[in-house]
Amino acid sequence: MTAPTTDTTATATTGGSSVWPIATSRTEDGALAIGGVPLPEIAASYGTPTYVYDEATLRGNARAFRDAFTAAYPRSRVVFAGKAFLNTALLQILHAEGLGLDVVSGGELFVGLHAGIPAPEISLHGNNKSREELRQAIEAGIGKIVVDTLHELDLLAELTRDLASPQTILLRLNPGVDVHTHAKISTGVADSKFGFPIAGGQAEEAVRKALAIPGVHLAGYHAHVGSQLFDPQATLDAIAEILAFARAMQEAHGVTMEHLSPGGGFGIAYTDGDEPLPAIQWAQAIAEAVQAGCALHNLPLPTLTIEPGRAIVGPAGVALYTVGGEKRLPGIRTYVSVDGGMADNIRPALYGAAYTAALANRDDGGERETVTIAGKYCESGDLLIEGIALPPLRPGDLLAVPAAGAYCLAMASNYNCALRPAVVLVGDGRHRLIRRRETFADLIRNDVLA
Ligand code: LLP
Repeated sequence: MTAPTTDTTATATTGGSSVWPIATSRTEDGALAIGGVPLPEIAASYGTPTYVYDEATLRGNARAFRDAFTAAYPRSRVVFAGKAFLNTALLQILHAEGLGLDVVSGGELFVGLHAGIPAPEISLHGNNKSREELRQAIEAGIGKIVVDTLHELDLLAELTRDLASPQTILLRLNPGVDVHTHAKISTGVADSKFGFPIAGGQAEEAVRKALAIPGVHLAGYHAHVGSQLFDPQATLDAIAEILAFARAMQEAHGVTMEHLSPGGGFGIAYTDGDEPLPAIQWAQAIAEAVQAGCALHNLPLPTLTIEPGRAIVGPAGVALYTVGGEKRLPGIRTYVSVDGGMADNIRPALYGAAYTAALANRDDGGERETVTIAGKYCESGDLLIEGIALPPLRPGDLLAVPAAGAYCLAMASNYNCALRPAVVLVGDGRHRLIRRRETFADLIRNDVLA
């Protein structure tokens, strides 16, 4: 293995705006290395497409959030929103860094428990949890269930009837605040499937109903207004709405807000122009809003839970592809295809999400050509990056796409019978497989012959 030299590609730091993991460098022969491991070595060992996670960046992000929130608001907890990417080894690392876990399904809960995350450190979200999922969570002894509908309260009334001690719940509120992010990842506006609207009295109805169920303990409120946020204002507005509601509920029904969760949504850099807020700025803004709001409404300070997903795993992950054929359409554009695409990263097709990329197996020289990076799947819209200036690419070259650690593999599919990629953890010059690539056998595993 060639020893990496000093960083040239990136000088990433946690909470900073670089799109590359912390320890990204170029080797003497020009290959891109992450965590001290040249990416050609990853491709040779595991094939492509492979998702490479840098352990130092993962740990650094977890610590950055934990330390920032502890400093700004000592009674705070950071729980990792597992929907961004769940994997057993990765969860164990995040738990070792002091993070709890937020899950949204029975499947995510299963993975969390399998990884050894203690049930009291897990909370369950979801706008349509099934009776089975609720039962599974209660039987596991889950810390909190974040309730989203009146129907869910009916189910909980039934499932908690014989519990020795009540199940702690929070109510997910819809604070009705607008948020400037992609419409598909905005959740706090009035027209949303998530949360009890505060306006119009539905949230108060849920409080009344929850208080009448002996088997549940209503401990507070949650709201998550959107994802990939660069501006804290919508989150701060949501906090203000929740605190005003908490005061009204304290006065009307004697409910003490012990817990408050303003969700996740902390944005990351996907391309060089993106400038996300560092964890410390989020922490200070949120802490100040909670402290000021509680003082205003004469409320005791609650325990604060934040739920970052993307900001923990997103910057740690790099997708590694092999370049295949190209199609030159004079006067139109040049397509260069890679061996992955929308089956492992649906985000460009779904949200128009922008990514950047770098040549990973050799020095990228000075020459540049503007190309469109296409995936290999049977959809015209399967384009990973439109219009990116890259060194002229040749078949067999390796292309690395940074900021691919969140919501890529988590939303991956078997479209066109694609095999979900391998996942490799790197650090200190070592690499280890933490999820094997799917095999053809996986494709027919669940098929049943008539
Ligand atoms: N908490 C709750 C209740 C959430 O609904 C979410 C994300 C999070 C926390 C974590 O948000 P984060 O910190 O990762 O932004 N697939 C989309 C993102 C959907 C997010 C859904 N909820 C994407 O690829 O951008």
